[in-house]
Amino acid sequence: GAPVDVDISKLEPGQLIRVLWRGKPVWVLRRTREELDRLATLDEDVLRDPLSKESDQPKAATNPVRALKPEVFVAVGVCTHLGCAPTFRPEVAPADLGPDWPGGFFCPCHGSRFDLAGRVFKGVPAPKNLDIPPYKYLSDTRILIG
Ligand code: FES
Repeated sequence: GAPVDVDISKLEPGQLIRVLWRGKPVWVLRRTREELDRLATLDEDVLRDPLSKESDQPKAATNPVRALKPEVFVAVGVCTHLGCAPTFRPEVAPADLGPDWPGGFFCPCHGSRFDLAGRVFKGVPAPKNLDIPPYKYLSDTRILIG
């Protein structure tokens, strides 16, 4: 598969776009300042692998926000359980996900939960964090995935 060039110049804070890379959906999300603050204050005890020691991501994205630049989150949009497509649910405590939902990604197939860095919560079927594909910045407004 060829690398995919993504223009993020028009990506607004809070907006997620989807591109296809090697036949897989890849998300590019511009996280808001508030979302980054929420990630920073999340209790790591609720996460299975908070430091992403057992997950797949580029070395430069092996950090708590799992990204090269904190604002821009790039991830493979495929659940690490059985491959369903998690939904983007950035809001805190929506009625259907309950008061403990801190914002992130929710897989409707078997209820796996991930935070806004794709880190999996304890107690769900997904065994590991979402994959982060290889990517780099061509400029401040262009990312090359793959
Ligand atoms: Fe996502 Fe099972 S495929 S929870």
